Amino acid sequence: MAPVTSITASVNQRLTAALTSALPEATAADPLLRRSDRADYQANGILALAKKAKANPRELAAQVVAEIETGELLADVEVSGPGFLNVTVTDKAITETLAARAADGDRLGVPAKDAPGITVIDYAQPNVAKEMHVGHLRSAVIGDALRAMLDFTGEKTIGRHHIGDWGTQFGMLIQYLIENPAELAPADEADGEQAMSNLNRIYKASRAVFDSDEEFKERARKRVVALQSGDKETLDLWQRFVDESKIYFYSVFEKLDMEIRDDEIVGESAYNDLMPETARLLEESGVAVRSDGALVVFFDEIRGKDGEPVPLIVQKKDGGFGYAASDLSAIRNRVTDLHATSLIYVVDVRQSLHFKMVFEAARRMGWLSDEVTAHNMGYGTVLGADGKPFKTRAGETVRLEDLLDEAVERATAVVREKAEKVGLTEEEIVENGRYVGIGAVKYADLSTSANRDYKFDLDQMVSLNGDTSVYLQYAYARIKSILRRAGDSAEPVAHPELELAPAERALGLHLDAFGDLVYEAAAEYAPHKLAAYLYQLASLFTTFYDQCPVVKPRPAQEIVENRLLLCDLTARTLHQGMALLGIRTPEKL
Ligand code: ARG
Repeated sequence: MAPVTSITASVNQRLTAALTSALPEATAADPLLRRSDRADYQANGILALAKKAKANPRELAAQVVAEIETGELLADVEVSGPGFLNVTVTDKAITETLAARAADGDRLGVPAKDAPGITVIDYAQPNVAKEMHVGHLRSAVIGDALRAMLDFTGEKTIGRHHIGDWGTQFGMLIQYLIENPAELAPADEADGEQAMSNLNRIYKASRAVFDSDEEFKERARKRVVALQSGDKETLDLWQRFVDESKIYFYSVFEKLDMEIRDDEIVGESAYNDLMPETARLLEESGVAVRSDGALVVFFDEIRGKDGEPVPLIVQKKDGGFGYAASDLSAIRNRVTDLHATSLIYVVDVRQSLHFKMVFEAARRMGWLSDEVTAHNMGYGTVLGADGKPFKTRAGETVRLEDLLDEAVERATAVVREKAEKVGLTEEEIVENGRYVGIGAVKYADLSTSANRDYKFDLDQMVSLNGDTSVYLQYAYARIKSILRRAGDSAEPVAHPELELAPAERALGLHLDAFGDLVYEAAAEYAPHKLAAYLYQLASLFTTFYDQCPVVKPRPAQEIVENRLLLCDLTARTLHQGMALLGIRTPEKL
């Protein structure tokens, strides 16, 4: 592995050094470098520094330029406007840097962090005995992408799927099963749909008895107590509900082309043993107080509509622990036992108040601090094409699996249309249809910033034009076909002595920025920035391919080789970037 310093980082270093020697009293002088249309970069940082030093910005800029040596890296640095710097790098530096990236396999020269932290990421958390809905889809898709991006930077990540596997509803479910033992015939390992339909049936049937039969209701209540006190028979039946649900969850995750590890499915119930201690610690330290028999935490700034403070309930009057107690205990476990330095929660924005209170309580306890931070990456609601919350025409919530199946179906039709021209077998059409359909769903979700609502519009998602995954997948396949056609007549080889056309420079500099961008997007928990980067990459490639012939009309051999290097690196960057988003890039499409 040979990490490559990006051109942006090198230029930044040079300018910072020049700024510091021109203005020695300036500490942490940031040249504020940006990509620019006028030159390769523009540096705007001198204005603020000059103001602080009471100097003339243009004069200071001229002094900085005088400190800079052009040559290998920098072709030209000039003062513009009120004191900006326009910076142009050499063609040679671009080609050499790209060649070094091309020689570095999948990592493309992107270094791994020297001092990685440990991030525990809480995502993909459906509920036992319940159908997964589109909200759970978002958590899974966003969490999975964010995690891959963090991994790519070298961060150590640990997944936690905080599934809803505890609560009073299990009293009703288990009691019903005891009275109707034949109802939950174990589903075939591989049949998630069967598992879910069994669970659904039991849920509905038990609910009906619960609502109509007072005596059953009482038996169900007693069953909750048995469950909480660890009665063996009750726990075994509870476990069957969990196992059956997992068969279903796994079938959905597989459909989503997503790997979920069993040891990372650690649901609410896993923290049961910790909860009494959590409550005791909170109460002893005075962070939580007794109010009407319940144990609660108050926050000055959090008030309801009536102006009364809204407390976080750690323990209910009847002694029961709930969602907050489990989350507070989970924090202790993640910080103390897993040694986390950051905690991320990819959870619906509608739970943001819950997390705000939980985090604040944990901070007061010292479980969270400057060294251990927590962030709720709250995502918005999934809307239908009509802009209203996503429902079927009959007004019911849409089953996640139906949705995914439909996306794959539509995508397969799109793939099929072009299949003959590309020479795809039936098997390849089916496989590509899956990759395009699932990719479409993931990309649509990931390309809008997570906290916004997003429209689930299948027509738009599988459209070949515009900011869609299938557009990027086609761009990738097209480049692979160019590389195949170039075949043995030429290899991607760098020729740093060659002059570059503007479209080659633009593409080259964008390729070089991949690693910096992944770092930035990972640090900001912003997968949409990676999506935007990839979309721009595909557009820059299109411009390059229009303006710079690669195979037809065939330029001189070295030019062909140099351009094939750009093609090759574009394909590999697209492939890697899409992989980080959880999206496959078929070789032929
Ligand atoms: N199971 C919950 C739901 O479906 C999400 C759990 C989120 N994670 C957490 N640590 N609270 O709403």
